[in-house]
Amino acid sequence: MTPDRSLPEPIPLYQSLVETEEIAAGSAELAAGWLGMGGTVAAFEEAVHRAVDAGGRSTVAVSTGHAALHLAMILTGAGPGTEVVVPAFTHLADVQAIVAVGAEPVFCDIDPLTLCVDVDRAAELVGPATRAVVLMDYGPHLCDHEAAAALAAERGLRTVHDAAHTFGSAYHGRPVGSFSDLCIFSFDPVKALTAIDAGVVVVTDEIELHRLRHLRLLGSDLPVTASYRNEKTWDYDAVDIGYRYHLSNVHAAVGLAQLAKLDRIRAGRQAACRRYQERLKTVEGVGLPPTDFDDVNPFLYYIRVAPGIRDDLRAHLAERGIGTGIHWRPAQLHTRFRHYRHGPLPVTEQVGEEIISLPLHSAMPEVVVDRVCDEVAAYFRRPGRA
Ligand SMILES: Cc1ncc(COP(=O)(O)O)c(C=O)c1O
Repeated sequence: MTPDRSLPEPIPLYQSLVETEEIAAGSAELAAGWLGMGGTVAAFEEAVHRAVDAGGRSTVAVSTGHAALHLAMILTGAGPGTEVVVPAFTHLADVQAIVAVGAEPVFCDIDPLTLCVDVDRAAELVGPATRAVVLMDYGPHLCDHEAAAALAAERGLRTVHDAAHTFGSAYHGRPVGSFSDLCIFSFDPVKALTAIDAGVVVVTDEIELHRLRHLRLLGSDLPVTASYRNEKTWDYDAVDIGYRYHLSNVHAAVGLAQLAKLDRIRAGRQAACRRYQERLKTVEGVGLPPTDFDDVNPFLYYIRVAPGIRDDLRAHLAERGIGTGIHWRPAQLHTRFRHYRHGPLPVTEQVGEEIISLPLHSAMPEVVVDRVCDEVAAYFRRPGRA
C-alpha cells in the first residue's frame, strides 16, 4: 500500500536514539554466544559508575528499574508492619516495590513547582513504623535532596532515590547517583538512555553490594568473578531469598553504546525542551515547567492545561499524528492502592488532572518541536476557546 502523503509524519511521544552502534553492539553480543550475565554487564556497571561519578559507591545492574526499586526496598528493611512514604504522584513501580516487600505505602503530596515529593508533607507522615522515603525525580526536576537527607538523618530513615528520569542530571553540581543513600536508574525502552530494558542500583555499603548480587540471582552466592568472565560454576549455595533479576550481556551492550552518547543525548533533549519553552511561553492557557533545563538530562517534557480540556487537546493532537502521554494518574486513584493511608493531596490531585507529556526525543529536529507547538497553539486559538 502506498503511504498517504497528505498526512504529516506521525510524531511519537517517545523515540529512542537507536542507531548503527546499538544494533552492531547487540548483534556482536548475540554472535559472541554468551547471552546471559557476563563481562559486558561488568563493563556496563563500570560505565554507569564513571558516568555518574559514583566514587566509593558501587553500581549493580539488574533487569529493570522496577527490579532495582524492589531490591533497594529490601535493603531498606521495609517489610510487613512497616511503612514507606512515597509521593502519590509517581510511577506504579515505586508503589509496587513497596507492596512487594509487604510494607504499606503512605502517599504524600508533591511540591507545586518541582512536582517531586514535598519534604515537609513527608515529615508529617513519618511515624514509628516508617522505614523509608521514596524520592522520585520528576521529568526535568530534582527533589529537594538536601531537605530529604536531613529528614532521613533526623528520623533514622533510609531513602530510595528513584532517578529513573534523571540519569545524566546533576543536583547542585553533583551528578545524580553520586550522593544518595540508595539510588536507582532505569534504562527501559523509552528512557533517555535505553538498554532495551535494564536497571541499576547505586549502593554505598559493601555488605549491601554483596547482598544485591545475591538477591538478583535467586539468592545464590555464585561468584560474580566467574560470571564476569563469561563462565558458569556449579559450586554455589542459596544464601538469601532471591529473584531472577540479573541483566543479560545483550542488553548491557546496547546500554554501553547509549552511554557513549550521553553528552549528545542530553544536549539534544535540553535543546528540544528549551525550544518548547520558547515557542509555548506565549500560548495562553499552557503552563510550562518552571526550569531552564540546565544540568538535567530530561526524560520528559510536560505542560499543564485546565483539567476540563486535557482530553480534548490530546485528541486534537492525536488527530494530527502527535503522541502525548499522562505521567501520571496519581497512585491513590488506582484500584489496588485506594485503601492505603495518605496525607492531604491537593497538589497531586490538581496536577494529576492538568498534566500532559509532549513528544521528547534525543535527536528531535527543531521543525518537529515547532510542529507540535504550532498544533498546541492552534488548539488554543480555535473559535470558542477562551
Ligand atoms: C519514575 C520511574 N520509576 C521507575 C520506573 C520503572 O522502570 P522500568 O520501566 O525500567 O522498570 C519508571 C518507568 O517508567 C519510572 O518512570
